[in-house]
This record gives sequence, structure tokens and C-alpha cells, in this order.
Amino acid sequence: MNRPPISTTLSDRVRSLEATPMRAMVDLASDQDTDSINLAFGDPDFDTPAHIVEEAMEAASAGGTHYTDNFGIEALRAAIASEYESAGVPVDPDREIAVTAGAIQGLAFATLAVADPGDEIVVLTPAWPSYFTQAGVANATLLTVPLSPEEDFALDGSRVAAAIGDDTAAVILSSPSNPTGQVFDHEEIETVIDAAAANDAWIIADEVYWRLVYGDEFESVAALTDYDRLIVANSASKTYAMTGWRVGWLVGPPTVIESMAQLHQAFSTCASSVSQHALLAALEGPQEPIREMHTAYRDRRDYVLDRIESIPGIEVPEPQGGFYVFPDVRALGDSSLDVARQLVHEAGVVTAPGVGFGDAGEGHLRISFASDMETLATAFDRIEAFAGDVVDADSDVQS
Ligand SMILES: Cc1ncc(COP(=O)(O)O)c(C=O)c1O
Repeated sequence: MNRPPISTTLSDRVRSLEATPMRAMVDLASDQDTDSINLAFGDPDFDTPAHIVEEAMEAASAGGTHYTDNFGIEALRAAIASEYESAGVPVDPDREIAVTAGAIQGLAFATLAVADPGDEIVVLTPAWPSYFTQAGVANATLLTVPLSPEEDFALDGSRVAAAIGDDTAAVILSSPSNPTGQVFDHEEIETVIDAAAANDAWIIADEVYWRLVYGDEFESVAALTDYDRLIVANSASKTYAMTGWRVGWLVGPPTVIESMAQLHQAFSTCASSVSQHALLAALEGPQEPIREMHTAYRDRRDYVLDRIESIPGIEVPEPQGGFYVFPDVRALGDSSLDVARQLVHEAGVVTAPGVGFGDAGEGHLRISFASDMETLATAFDRIEAFAGDVVDADSDVQS
């Protein structure tokens, strides 16, 4: 009997999921077996500060290894609430916070909670690609609104407002943005919220880079509005160098937070208990190691900007937050994928092609500066040499 190939028996949902171009580049580099430098991922090179690890170990030794409440341990929810309270945002730790396995799970849960199949999820591009996949998994319709490279991908509230309508379930606002590093202007955010309110749509604010800003202190969307259909996602990953712990949180109105109990029961029961203790230590413990990491990121950002600015033909907007630069590399090749591939082959540097963040990212590369200075210096020596060769080859063709 002829049986269909096993892959065709998988759900359409799963089969429609594609590997991100970041992953494709890393695979390409590992196929090459060179000493390539990976600047494609958003994983801090720092280890989790020692006091956080120690407190998590102590909590585990003391028996903190069981399932927790679906919403997370009480002390952690109280600590998260006080982060918002100190910014003037009252949050009820019992009814308005759910602890999740990283912001990625929180965002997936938020999407599943507010979007029915066919509803629209509005995403401003360039954007972190998991928003696209999560909308797909929820069988929602993805509506992308391209932001303009001429405006350094700043939020254009009225352009987003024009895309919001009856079918919009939610608008995802990611600020500080991955990949562009933009911190969105408050008035523009308010324009989006007004349009969402006129259509009963949710705002899902992804604020994982909230402590990694290089200008004025970051204000959560929750501090800007009392709109009652707002869900804020955040996590320990970037701020505390805790990507592997998989712990984060959602803040939202009680109705939506209540639904997180059902989603947790379906998918994960709760976030890891040990990681919850670690996040509690991160929030309540000494902040000096966090300040040191922040200073290092700022220095690296400035260094990377200097290096890129000295490469002819490449324009780079200054990121206001996060740990990525998003230069325009059209002068170096036909497409972002082409430039990223060549950088792997010719320079042994892995970057993320802009097209992976939506069509609006085409012509750009996302380069992470979550690596130490020495690594960045070597990587940029190589990038500079590669760019020099491309420019020389172009001038040979023209002469
Ligand atoms: C914009 C954005 N949101 C969410 C996440 C997911 O973070 P977490 O590690 O908390 O799941 C990332 C990770 O890269 C990100 O860049």
C-alpha cells in the first residue's frame, strides 16, 4: 500500500511554519565550518548575574521545584507589580499579572486570547518574525503596516490607524523595536490607541527591551494610557541576561489575565518554578550588575555606529534602544539575503537579513551588538574589508 509522505500528514498549521532567515544564515555558516562570528541572534553574551543564579539554586534546594500557581508565585507577581507602581502605574498583582515562559509565550498567549481565526493582527514592519508565526498558529490574518526607512522606521500613528478596522483583533506595538531600535513617540502611540479604541481592538505592547534604552528613561505604554484593552508583555531575558531561564510576564486587565490560567493549563501549567525564583531575585536584588551591562551595551552601540559610519555607502539610523543596529546595505548587494549570504561566505560574519523582518526590512541587515568588544572589532574589520572589496569591484565595473 502506498502511504503518503509523512510530512503531508502534519497539520497545515505546522507545515506553513518556516525557519527564520536568521536560522538559515547560522546553518549556512555552520555548513562552512569556518571561524564565523555570529551577530545574528539577540542573546546577551553576559552570563546571568551570580546573585540571581545563587538565589535560584537556594530556592530549588529549599523545595521550590513544584508546579506553581498558573499565574506565577505570589511574591514574584508582587515584585512585578511594584516595578510598574514605581512608574506610576497601579497593577493588581492578583488579577492583572500572569507569569509566562518568556515574553514569547506571553505574546503567543495574548494572541490566542484575543484573536479568533480570520481576525486581523496588525504588525508594524520591520518586526520580530515571531509575531508573524504566532498570528499563523492562531489562524489569524496578518496585516503588516510598513514603516518608512526614510523616517528611520519611526512609528507613523496615522498610517497604522488607517489599517485598523472592524476585523482588527489586535495591534502589536514593539518598542524599543527589534530590529530597528526605535523607541516609539508617545503621541504616535496615542493615535494608534485611539484608532484601536474606536474599533474595540486590543493593543499588545512588547516591551522586552524596556531597560535597554540609551536616551530618556523608557515609559511603558501602560503609563501612557488607561485604555482597558492593553496587554503588556515583558521578560527577564534581555534586561537580566536570562534568555535560557524562560521567564517573563504579562500585564493586562483581569478578564484577559484570567484566560491565561486556561492557556497555561493547556500548554505549560506555569512558568518554571526555579526561573520564577530567579526573576524574583533579579527584580529585588542589587541592580549594579544590570547597570554595568547597560553601560557595556551603550559603549558597544557607539562603537558599532562609528565603525559602520566609516564604511562608504552604508547608512545607519541610531538605535535608541535594544542591542541591534539596522543599517541600509543596498550599496553592498542585490538583496539583504544576498548581502547576508556573502558576508557569511566572504567574511565569516553571520547577520540577519532584513527581509526576515518583513518586506519593509529589505535592503537592511540586523546586526546584534550583544557580543564583547573584541568580537565586534574583529567582525567589523571583516565587514569593512568585505564592503571595501564590493565598492572596489563596482568602481572597476564602472571604469
Ligand atoms: C521583540 C522581542 N520580543 C520578544 C522576544 C522574546 O523574548 P523572551 O526571551 O522573553 O521569550 C524577543 C526575543 O528576541 C524579542 O526580540
